[in-house]
Amino acid sequence: MLAEQFEKRLIFFAGKGGVGRTTLSAAIGLAHARRKRRTLIVEMGATPQMPSLFGGESRSSYEPIRLMKDLPLYTCHLTPKEALAEYGVMKLKMRSVYKLVFENDFMKRLVEWVPGMDELLLIGKIWFIEQQRDRNGRPMYDRIIVDAPATGHGVSLLQLPSVIVDAVKSGPFATDSRPIQDLLQDPTRTLVHLVSLPEELPVRETLELSERIRTDLNISLGCCFVNRVWPKPFTAREQRIAGQLRAAVRGRDSNLDTMMDQVINASQRRDKQQKNIRTLQGELSELPIIQVPRLFTDRIGMEELDTLSHHMGKEQHA
Ligand SMILES: Nc1ncnc2c1ncn2[C@@H]1O[C@H](COP(=O)(O)OP(=O)(O)OP(=O)(O)O)[C@@H](O)[C@H]1O
Ligand SMILES: [Mg+2]
Repeated sequence: MLAEQFEKRLIFFAGKGGVGRTTLSAAIGLAHARRKRRTLIVEMGATPQMPSLFGGESRSSYEPIRLMKDLPLYTCHLTPKEALAEYGVMKLKMRSVYKLVFENDFMKRLVEWVPGMDELLLIGKIWFIEQQRDRNGRPMYDRIIVDAPATGHGVSLLQLPSVIVDAVKSGPFATDSRPIQDLLQDPTRTLVHLVSLPEELPVRETLELSERIRTDLNISLGCCFVNRVWPKPFTAREQRIAGQLRAAVRGRDSNLDTMMDQVINASQRRDKQQKNIRTLQGELSELPIIQVPRLFTDRIGMEELDTLSHHMGKEQHA
């Protein structure tokens, strides 16, 4: 297990759309819960995935719900609207006053219009969760795994508190943003994992994202997970033999040709993927680059999440 990279309280999974941020957040969340860590997986997408990934009915709940009876694994689905309501009530102390101030049309339009307001409310709520303590004064959650929005929105979410602190030096916004910035930039509490695919474009975007996180955001990076890596179909010798075989049988039977082409394609795909992974290893030489296998299954469930988390925790060498 790459202990240091996983043992932070607040862990973000960031990356481009569709690379597997949700799946890998679920896998790591499950692994922490199996090790008896009270774990909360935070989702922010349009439709929450966690309840159905863990075998339950699809549902959205702003308040944390337990995903499994026998494991301390929870999830919540944050929306800016509910975060605003909670924040408003907290600030104004009374729900009736909140309704008066926040639920009139002018205020609603203002909140929709102010750029970055949604992200600020969401990251503020994550900060609030991190601050929560139970009756014994222990953190409410040992691990908070955030399935962050895809690239652009994800960066805004992480960047907003420092943008505000830099832009407005005083006032309520700056006062509220400073502790959030402190949390995000504290390497003992917060870490961002990158999720990528072993393909040219995702690799390029991952490199850009890591650069932005490092330079503009000043937040610690954990690992770069390269998801959906194809298994090695053949040894180099077998690959050579397959090439010779294809040349020898070419044109005799169209089914045989198709089959041999598929065999060769599978090897070539793996080679191309490994080349892209080497680019990541070269450019992000200070980060562990962890290969996560592509699973050949119709549906990802508990068993598959366990398999993925097993691979995510493995130390790998180039
Ligand atoms: N290692 C894997 N092997 C096979 N399928 C995978 C793997 N990882 C993810 N998938 C599948 O790929 C699809 C995209 O994964 P996922 O939803 O986790 O990505 P995402 O980054 O959260 O996407 P979005 O940007 O839509 O939120 C899903 O159908 C998921 O089941
Ligand atoms: Mg997702």
